[in-house]
Amino acid sequence: IHEPHFPNSVSSMSVDIHSLQKQIDELSTFSDTPAPSVTRILYSEKDVLARRYVKNLMRLSGLSVREDFVGNIFGLWEGYEPELAPVSTGSHIDAIPYSGKYDGVVGVLGAIEAINVLKRFGFKPRRSLEVIMFTSEEPTRFGISCLGSRLLAGDEALVKSLDRTVDNQNVTFFHAARSADYANDQEELSSVFLKEGSYSAFVELHIEQGPILEEEGISIGIVTAIAAPASIKVDFEGNGGHAGAVLMPNRNDAGLAAAELALAVEKHALESGSIDTVGTVGILNLHPGAINSIPSKSHLEIDTRDIDEYRRNIVIEKIHQSALNISQKRGVKLLDFKIVNQDPPALSEKSIVKAMESASQELNLTHKKMISRAYHDSLFMARISPMGMIFIPCYKGYSHKPEEFASIEDITNGVKVLALTLAKLSLH
Ligand code: GLV
Ligand code: MN
Ligand code: MN
Ligand code: MN
Repeated sequence: IHEPHFPNSVSSMSVDIHSLQKQIDELSTFSDTPAPSVTRILYSEKDVLARRYVKNLMRLSGLSVREDFVGNIFGLWEGYEPELAPVSTGSHIDAIPYSGKYDGVVGVLGAIEAINVLKRFGFKPRRSLEVIMFTSEEPTRFGISCLGSRLLAGDEALVKSLDRTVDNQNVTFFHAARSADYANDQEELSSVFLKEGSYSAFVELHIEQGPILEEEGISIGIVTAIAAPASIKVDFEGNGGHAGAVLMPNRNDAGLAAAELALAVEKHALESGSIDTVGTVGILNLHPGAINSIPSKSHLEIDTRDIDEYRRNIVIEKIHQSALNISQKRGVKLLDFKIVNQDPPALSEKSIVKAMESASQELNLTHKKMISRAYHDSLFMARISPMGMIFIPCYKGYSHKPEEFASIEDITNGVKVLALTLAKLSLH
């Protein structure tokens, strides 16, 4: 198919497979844990080095690079009508502890390569095209997911709370940010906000993180909606004491309160009646953490999601009730029950879905519509811009573990669909 605005037939679009694979491998070496695992935590030394690597690639692709105060990185390719709102694309490169090298990375390095593809193709964008590397999609360090994109979307409450936010070493958010040469204070953070309409479209390329595309042998997933995520922090406190001397009837064990709540999370997710409801306790810490000491404090972090926001909220309410009941029954104080985030789902924009579908078709790639059960920066970009997401298959659906893998063929297909989608959106 030869669109009038395209210099060549789209079948001649070519991805530099060798370079892209090399970049994915190189970026994975900026890690705090040994290969094949990747651990890249916000504002750590490795994160700063990885950021430098990405900025360098953006410059090599001829993009003009800027960073905001939280470390979102933008690479702009100016269109021939630069006064129009640009089309943007991007993802994240931070990696949770002991994860893999594709989550997020494919949507950052793939986006830069998509720009290269369009340049080699001879395409001239009408609207400018912008690649974004978002700061800290993962909640690892400060417990806040999609930190960069939440701020871009204008989350005032988040800016306020960051003043009191520390990591598990008691390093404050602003101390950490300053150490990487980013925000000094709240005022600077507010400057990160983008107005609605800053972009005419936002598209994110990502591995599926689920098994469907691979199982069905389909090349491209076209995301129609992103499930609603929430996270909760809970703290219990009991009297602790000697593991030998305090008799069982006299205990109020904060660890057992946590264990019971963890089981309640599972139960409430299961009893929602839908396979789409999930609940996870991924963090459970006991204090003082000695074999011969009854836990006097426990800390849990709970992740729960659903494509149905209302149903997800019922689960949160039930978890809260369980925490109260357990605390009463066990004589353990419920020190804190904090809902860190309780986000609504997001819908893709129909016109972007159409553009992604026709791009897949024109490239002769099989595709299907699907929902995203994982969250992404797209969830927040959708608050200020029409949004769409492209999924590619990944090995057995593995993600957030070292075995995560996507083949270079699948990545290449994703990059082509992204490039063609960006081109189409740029002309409109
Ligand atoms: C993001 O990584 C998520 O947990 O969906
Ligand atoms: Mn992730
Ligand atoms: Mn991701
Ligand atoms: Mn994610």
